[in-house]
Amino acid sequence: MGEMTVMLSEQQNQNQNQSQTVLDANQLTSLQLTIGSYSPLQLAWASGYLAAKSENSSIALLPTGSTHAEESIVEATLTILYASQTGNAKGVAKQLSDKASAAGIKVSLKNIADFKPKSLKAETHLIIVASTNGEGEPPDDALGFHEFLFSKKASKLPDLNYSVLALGDSSYEFFCQTGKDFDERLQALGAKQVTPRLDCDVDYDEDANTWSLAIVEKLTDELTQDTSVANVVNLAVAVTEASQYSKQTPLTAELLVSQKITGRDSAKHVAHVEIDLTDSGLTYQPGDALGVWFENSNELVDELLSTLNLPAQEQVTLKLAGKEATVTLEEALIKHLEITQTAPAFIEFWANLSNSADLLALVKDKNAARVFAGEHQVIDVIKQAQSTTQVTAQQFVDSLRKITPRLYSIASSQAEVDEEVHLTVGLVSYEKGAAKRSGGASGFLTERLAEGETVKVFVEHNDNFRLPNNNETPIIMIGPGTGVAPFRAFMQEREANDASGDNWMFFGDQTFTQDFLYQVEWQNYLKSGLLTKMDVAFSRDQSEKVYVQHRIKEQAKDVYAWLERGAHLYICGDGDRMAKDVHQTLIDVISEQGQLSTEQAEQYLKELRINKRYQKDVY
Ligand SMILES: Cc1cc2nc3c(=O)[nH]c(=O)nc-3n(C[C@H](O)[C@H](O)[C@H](O)COP(=O)(O)O)c2cc1C
Repeated sequence: MGEMTVMLSEQQNQNQNQSQTVLDANQLTSLQLTIGSYSPLQLAWASGYLAAKSENSSIALLPTGSTHAEESIVEATLTILYASQTGNAKGVAKQLSDKASAAGIKVSLKNIADFKPKSLKAETHLIIVASTNGEGEPPDDALGFHEFLFSKKASKLPDLNYSVLALGDSSYEFFCQTGKDFDERLQALGAKQVTPRLDCDVDYDEDANTWSLAIVEKLTDELTQDTSVANVVNLAVAVTEASQYSKQTPLTAELLVSQKITGRDSAKHVAHVEIDLTDSGLTYQPGDALGVWFENSNELVDELLSTLNLPAQEQVTLKLAGKEATVTLEEALIKHLEITQTAPAFIEFWANLSNSADLLALVKDKNAARVFAGEHQVIDVIKQAQSTTQVTAQQFVDSLRKITPRLYSIASSQAEVDEEVHLTVGLVSYEKGAAKRSGGASGFLTERLAEGETVKVFVEHNDNFRLPNNNETPIIMIGPGTGVAPFRAFMQEREANDASGDNWMFFGDQTFTQDFLYQVEWQNYLKSGLLTKMDVAFSRDQSEKVYVQHRIKEQAKDVYAWLERGAHLYICGDGDRMAKDVHQTLIDVISEQGQLSTEQAEQYLKELRINKRYQKDVY
């Protein structure tokens, strides 16, 4: 959308030069009167309606022939930058931008990667919405900005008013670190904080919304002189957004196929899932993810209710879509609350209620609590530390996070599958005593939802995981396990485009016979020549463990040669161990083959990342 704003101002200039027939002052006033009472959603709808009536919506909606319009472009602008890895911060920034625009503020919304850090000096009002990635690291797109801000090149910013909204996950040691970094550094450079930074956890919607409304209210007087242009400019921006389904307004789609693709003797249950998008207009690109809303299992909710000794039909209140709603406890647990992922805050709540010495000790060690939370669902925590104090239904509801959709890397290209979307879903499952526990969304997609039933989905665009623009550019794909998913999409796309660039795939899993995901497809790609090279590592097929990083090491010379001739490098899959081990191996390979020091090899990889030639989709 940042690009869109720039594009519009260019169009305005063109319009002035070309004297097109558009709204005169009276027409503009009457439009303002009509839309004055519209909500942002109604504005978006109306703009789509108008757009459909015109051949070129963005030009037709702009006031022209008025120097006033151009002046207001250079008047105080609120710059909103998002630093986002998987789209959450981008979504929050867009909503903030819509609110500010609706209040008449002139907004420039940009991906932080598209903002020249040197031009910070010229800004007067800035909001950064930043998530944290890795172990307290900035998202890929924010690496350059982060490096600049912390370098000597960053000058003092006495004229800058700013605020930071940080997204993160409180179970990480470095909670919201990137947002904290930006906040502290901007302050140190002399910028003035408009409102205190907000650190949001995984269920950030309500908090981010409240914070955004408050800051827009605070900035409105300061930044609005003329609301007419700002509103009209952003009307056009809204066109592209409103026509798409979103996290808040997902598409209800039919599950066409959910087919286990690991062998009978595999230790893993991985399913190939196909979802129908017919007539929805929902589109995606290879590299994007599909957001999936899910319902918790009835059996698990029954087990929780009986363990807690709470009645299913008791009424509880919840905040849903910004409003208080009353629902039964059972419905709250099935549809609205997270019970398969345990938040550290829940462990603390239950530790205090049950007075369990073990849990109380755990609460003091954040890392241990995170590991424990990853291995125990809410029911396991409750069963492990039975409480003699009876929890009330409302207390229990208040102690849980809201359900959040899960993102799955899309495993298909629309060039191949048209109005379908495919996923590769690994069922999260483990046994606790006699009980079998399954992941919320993965259990829903692979065990509970029958083919023909519906699921609510939306597309999360991921510009941080894209094929090269140039079809001749070689690519190296590293995707063990379900990390294979986006590379199936990449291959389908490269095939449809007749892309001549070389393709090299590294795949790994436990065994060749049981776990080689999409084996036949890969073999066909090799046979046809579309796939130039494939290296596989099956860890349990021999006495010593062999993983993808070992294959990369064995192929060091070729890997380096491919990089030197411009290959793009992609990693998808497990972020805890695989992506780190592969990263370290790449440093070794580059340092050995390029005869560079470790620091130089790290810098080599960092430059690849900044240039979008090294992209990761890890979880
Ligand atoms: C691989 C990975 C690493 C993460 N590391 C951190 C972290 O160190 N600290 C933190 O607060 N959150 C961390 N998070 C959580 C994200 O910041 C959080 O999910 C956020 O909502 C993502 O926003 P985005 O989609 O805009 O990137 C991590 C998430 C992922 C997937």
